[in-house]
Amino acid sequence: MNRVYIKTYGCQMNERDSEAVAAMLRVRGYSIVESEAEADVVLLNTCSVRDQAEQKALGKAGRLLKDRGRGSRMQVLGVMGCMAQNRGRALIDSLPDLDLVVGTQKFHQVPDHLDNLMATLRGLGPRPASIVDIDAEAGSQNAIRGHAATRQVSAFVSIMQGCDMRCAYCIVPKTRGPERARPMDEIVEEVRRLADNGTREITLLGQIVNHYGKREFPVLGGKSPFVQLLEKVHAVDGIERIRFTSPHPVGFREDLVACYRELPKLCEYIHFPMQSGSDRVLRAMRRPYTRARFLRTVEALRRANPGMYFSTDVIVGFPGETDEDFAETVTLFDTVKFDMAFIFKYSVRSGTEAEALGDTVPREVKEARNQVLLERLEALSVARNCLLVGTVQEVLVEGPARKGDGVYMGRNRGNRKILFPGSAQLAGEFVPVRIVRATATVLYGEIVDAAG
Ligand code: SAH
Ligand code: SF4
Ligand code: F3S
Repeated sequence: MNRVYIKTYGCQMNERDSEAVAAMLRVRGYSIVESEAEADVVLLNTCSVRDQAEQKALGKAGRLLKDRGRGSRMQVLGVMGCMAQNRGRALIDSLPDLDLVVGTQKFHQVPDHLDNLMATLRGLGPRPASIVDIDAEAGSQNAIRGHAATRQVSAFVSIMQGCDMRCAYCIVPKTRGPERARPMDEIVEEVRRLADNGTREITLLGQIVNHYGKREFPVLGGKSPFVQLLEKVHAVDGIERIRFTSPHPVGFREDLVACYRELPKLCEYIHFPMQSGSDRVLRAMRRPYTRARFLRTVEALRRANPGMYFSTDVIVGFPGETDEDFAETVTLFDTVKFDMAFIFKYSVRSGTEAEALGDTVPREVKEARNQVLLERLEALSVARNCLLVGTVQEVLVEGPARKGDGVYMGRNRGNRKILFPGSAQLAGEFVPVRIVRATATVLYGEIVDAAG
């Protein structure tokens, strides 16, 4: 009765939270399994950022409970994370058989709640009452620190929780609460432990990483707390690559741009969310920058490192977005030449400022705008990837590719996925790979041997 399956929806913060919950559960003697069919306990770590994300998790929870009614192995179902925080007790109203609802500041309570639920179930009495635990808790950001005991070549490290921005469309400040930073020394210690265990690449995570520690730590020598943290992580032996996600265009200052000249381990890849290319829409979204300012930062980053790769987030169909506004988004997209992008169709979130604006852009128009950007993205990423054909890229080998057959997968510093024939002992190593072929999303290559 101690096999747990965790299914994760949403962003990398959620992935990281799920890993930390898994680590806490292992310490308590639970084993983490890879499929719901083998599990006594299923935990859904959920996302609320768009309606579709919530509907997916709700559908899944409904099916799992129905299957339990028909005698499936699962004994306990829990919903954690953003949708748990957003909907709280209302989840039990719509899914009365749900056992556990755990908010984003209570992940560390999951082992206790499961222990209690399991003990009651073993007592053969009536089913235990549902538990709802969604209060705020000071210091909860410090609980997201445990990792698997096995080697992770590339690891996420959560440096903060929450968001103090008020982008008009966004539910994250509600689901994740106010910005709270972890102490710098604890983060560095976590990175050191990962490095000792064989991790080579670190991605620092937060909703707005460049706001890290703004209130908690002073600016020193013109360097923001986030830049101070980057420098400390950079000094950890064994870590060879550093990335972070997401920065906000506001507050992306010269001290952070300079890191791309001065910190060689910091990879020349940035996820830089633009959301829209129209100043009018940016204002309505409460994104406090203009397209000119966004572009200036991109140019400064390219001056700091001409090989820089960029990815972004764009929302199409924000209320009031006209054809002219959208055309501005397309031109900014083309000017920056994004290598990767997540393009989202606007989804009204209840409780956000933009809720009052309605959902004025018809579904077909959102769909068409989405399609235009996807086509631009495909063209831009094929063009960039084709430039890499014939070059030798430094690849950090992550492991066997899904396709198998001796094909291995790794990434270059620009976060491009590279497939090549390899062998198991290369996992975690840096190898030189000559690129022979490119598609929009994948590069194919061959290892260049030392003699060649
Ligand atoms: N903190 C990150 C974003 C987290 S949410 C940042 O500011 O960059 C990830 C992305 O989801 C956002 O960048 C935005 O593009 C998209 N998103 C957020 N709310 C949305 C909504 N209501 N409808 C559609 N997309 C949305
Ligand atoms: Fe949402 Fe804006 Fe905060 Fe990002 S910065 S999490 S988009 S409110
Ligand atoms: Fe979704 Fe929560 Fe991340 S709403 S995008 S899982 S912070």
